[in-house]
Amino acid sequence: KENVRILAIETSCDETAAAVVENGRRVLSNTLFTQIAIHAEYGGVVPEIASRNHLEKLPYIVDQALREAGCTFGEIDALAVTQGPGLVGALLNGVSYAKALAFSLDKPLIAVNHMEGHISANYITYPELEPPFLCLVVSGGHTNIVKVEDYGRYVPLGATRDDAAGEAFDKVARILGLPYPGGPHLQKLAEQGDPDAYHFPKSFRGEHHLDFSFSGLKTAVINLVHRMEQRGESFNPADVAASFQKTVVRTLMENTFEAARREHIKRIALAGGVSANAALREEAARGGFALYLPKLCYCTDNAAMIGSAAYYRMLQSPAAQLSLNADPSLPL
Ligand code: KG4
Ligand code: ZN
Repeated sequence: KENVRILAIETSCDETAAAVVENGRRVLSNTLFTQIAIHAEYGGVVPEIASRNHLEKLPYIVDQALREAGCTFGEIDALAVTQGPGLVGALLNGVSYAKALAFSLDKPLIAVNHMEGHISANYITYPELEPPFLCLVVSGGHTNIVKVEDYGRYVPLGATRDDAAGEAFDKVARILGLPYPGGPHLQKLAEQGDPDAYHFPKSFRGEHHLDFSFSGLKTAVINLVHRMEQRGESFNPADVAASFQKTVVRTLMENTFEAARREHIKRIALAGGVSANAALREEAARGGFALYLPKLCYCTDNAAMIGSAAYYRMLQSPAAQLSLNADPSLPL
């Protein structure tokens, strides 16, 4: 078939999302109900509340995705859904909904790995991009350097041993009194600060492996802020934010550049929520590699990236069975 249209569903965390994507690259619609305002009240995602909202909003979001794409259920060739990793209850809503649709419409169902979805956001933004390339996947739950050898073929080169980069952003933001999710707010605050005001340690410097550790950095920032508060010292939170952000983005890109050199790869892509960060994008441009940055709306969770990943998966593997289950720790 010439044009393959996939209706994709993503519910791994706190975004209820659906999209229609043609041939893995052309986004016909990309709709989203963000639960951010609902969870902000609690300072973080409450899994049970996330599940309930997915259940409530999914039918409307799916309908909207079809309407905006200008097509009917009958004109869809396959369904795709995020199988994991993510919050199990949240995932189950999407998986059950997609299975029911696939069964009632008698169309194939494609199970997609959320991380593979993030990587595939680059295929949407750069229609000419093909593997191989190196990808730094940085989100609220993951921090990985991945060699993309081919569609569906990934070699892990480095990962965080504790906190994900986005998690570190969110925790430091919380200490500085910023709302959830902290990443984008911290970026904004950092723009008014001096990145050289404080020196924070970078972990794992000069090691042979390319892993990350962010919990030490997070603790260093928390300790500094508490110490200054206890002593009644006045300090500029923007300076703390800028110094923290500089340390994170330098650490992320140092390892990524090193991985590219070791593997003799000339092209680097970024992916995941933290790849929306302006300082990270600037730092990534300094390496002298060909650089691929997903459009901002495809960095954070969305269903278009799932529709893209599903297309390449469909070309390579058989469709999922209706016994498909969510897998909260699905490996890439
Ligand atoms: O990919 P994503 O939407 O969800 C997960 O799969 O985790 O990533 C969300 C994470 C959050 O930690 C959020 O604070 C972070 O991405 N984030 C940012 C920015 N935008 C989102 N971190 C730093 N700067 C940003 N501009
Ligand atoms: Zn994500």
